[in-house]
Amino acid sequence: MMGNHPSFDEPQREQIRAEFPYLGSRVYMNYASVGPLPLRARTAIDRINDTLQRLDTNFDPETDQALARARAATAKLIGGRPQQIGLFPNTSFGINWAFALLALQPGDAIVITDHEFPALRYAARHLTRFGIEVISVPVDPHGGLEAQTLATVLEAHPSVKVVAISWVNFHNGFRHDLSALAQITHAYGAYLVVDGIQGVGTRPLNVQAEQVDILAGATHKWLLCPVGLAFVWCHPHLIERFTSPWAGWMSIDWQSEYEDLFGPERPFTRGPRAAEVGTANFAGVRALAQTAEWLCELGLERIERHTQELLEHLDADLDRERFEAVSDRSLAHRSSIYCLRPKRGQAVDLRRHLTRHGIVAVVREGAVRLSPHFPTERSDVEQLVQSLREFEPA
Ligand SMILES: Cc1ncc(COP(=O)(O)O)c(C=O)c1O
Repeated sequence: MMGNHPSFDEPQREQIRAEFPYLGSRVYMNYASVGPLPLRARTAIDRINDTLQRLDTNFDPETDQALARARAATAKLIGGRPQQIGLFPNTSFGINWAFALLALQPGDAIVITDHEFPALRYAARHLTRFGIEVISVPVDPHGGLEAQTLATVLEAHPSVKVVAISWVNFHNGFRHDLSALAQITHAYGAYLVVDGIQGVGTRPLNVQAEQVDILAGATHKWLLCPVGLAFVWCHPHLIERFTSPWAGWMSIDWQSEYEDLFGPERPFTRGPRAAEVGTANFAGVRALAQTAEWLCELGLERIERHTQELLEHLDADLDRERFEAVSDRSLAHRSSIYCLRPKRGQAVDLRRHLTRHGIVAVVREGAVRLSPHFPTERSDVEQLVQSLREFEPA
């Protein structure tokens, strides 16, 4: 349930609009691909680029501070702690780190679904080169994996050590019940690794309460950052139990003192933080510090309510004679991704038609994927609904 958080009031909408002056008159419905940079992120990036051009100040303390802020605010968005977070170049690095951390052995198996984004699918497939079996489970008819189906698979395959799944499916918006999947996974002695990229930033999450083991996700979609930065969260039990498979000089907490690098050996940090092996993405972490703090301030409950109100409006106004809504809109599984298909004509024709009307969306797996976020306005959805009315199949 969304709780009692009201959606945004007009002054807040005004403040949000002011952060995106470059979107122009387009109706942007493509946050599931790439989120636009808000002004506050752009300003933070411009500042570090200015500094790097002039090199007239020592940027180390500010970078370390931005890293700490980015880890702390990201942790808050997912219900974790800053010391359980590491910042990586992309989701795939996070997933690879998770698989390496869990030290799978030849003869072990990993479960994914047959509808996974390639980031997870290929990282899992790579494991087969080391004698690890990948069990690809067909999703249930409504487009995701239910706990009962997972239980049947795990019962039949005692060698499974990891279940790896997207929180929200990229192609139909199905949101998995992480808590139910975690319970089954743990009951069979396996770990739950989650690709969170399509959900984090759209609604509240409490990784520890949901008993997720590892969560990874890039920040250039719903977290409105430049590409090239992701986060990984790891459960404290695993941080205690396993040593990070990677480490480097930046796995050390230098406390912004870089003048005595030959000094006595210092301890490694632990968990995903230890996998921050080298020099950070200076621009990216500054942007993430800004956007993640902003999302915390706006409130994920409020963000979710806003987006769901927009999608309810779209769903209610969708002409079911002409369009098929692909996404599961039940409270348990809905997300900020809404996919639809024309009953006559092709999804690519509909996408072209929407583009002509200034609406930005993409086609994924035979459906038009619409992905609004908190900057999306009610008038944007009205424009979309009107454009759908005017669609003439070829
Ligand atoms: C579910 C999902 N996982 C991962 C990615 C991207 O992975 P990476 O950050 O490794 O490029 C995307 C989209 O780009 C996605 O939709």
